[in-house]
Amino acid sequence: GFMDKCKILFVCLGNICRSPAAEAVMKKLVEENKLSDFIEIDSAGTIAYHSGERADPRMISHAAKRNISIDSIARKFSPLYDFDKFDYIVCMDDDNFNTIKNLDTDNLYSHKIFKMTNFSSIKNITSVPDPYYGGSRGFELVLDILEDASKGLLNKIKKDYGFKN
Ligand code: 4NP
Repeated sequence: GFMDKCKILFVCLGNICRSPAAEAVMKKLVEENKLSDFIEIDSAGTIAYHSGERADPRMISHAAKRNISIDSIARKFSPLYDFDKFDYIVCMDDDNFNTIKNLDTDNLYSHKIFKMTNFSSIKNITSVPDPYYGGSRGFELVLDILEDASKGLLNKIKKDYGFKN
């Protein structure tokens, strides 16, 4: 096309809970805003332990209650391809953020690396907490934060790219 798509990559540790949920929440919001032709969304983990797996069944079922369908297959972040390809690399917590920052050894991509909570309107939230070892409230909290922050992220992208509406 005449214009490059805006490409977003969400990053967490395992790529089976938080970042697949972020990908699905953002895809739904982008569809609602009729921007799917202009925005591409993917997710990855900083570890390969769960590569090839569907998202955690707990995350899938909590999301389904909100009409959000999670279909991603886990993969590990690739410094070789992902830094170049994506425009926004959005991390779930400080650990993910620092890992990605450290992979950018020549500091060529720091302008692309963000934390999801920077786009949140909820006060005093500085990370999307890992729900893996906890109960159902942790999964609900992840979705609450993601539904809020994804709106802030889309607003930034609309400004950065001049998308109207
Ligand atoms: P996620 O949660 O980073 O939100 O996908 C985790 C899933 C699995 C593991 C850690 C975090 N794990 O170590 O297996």
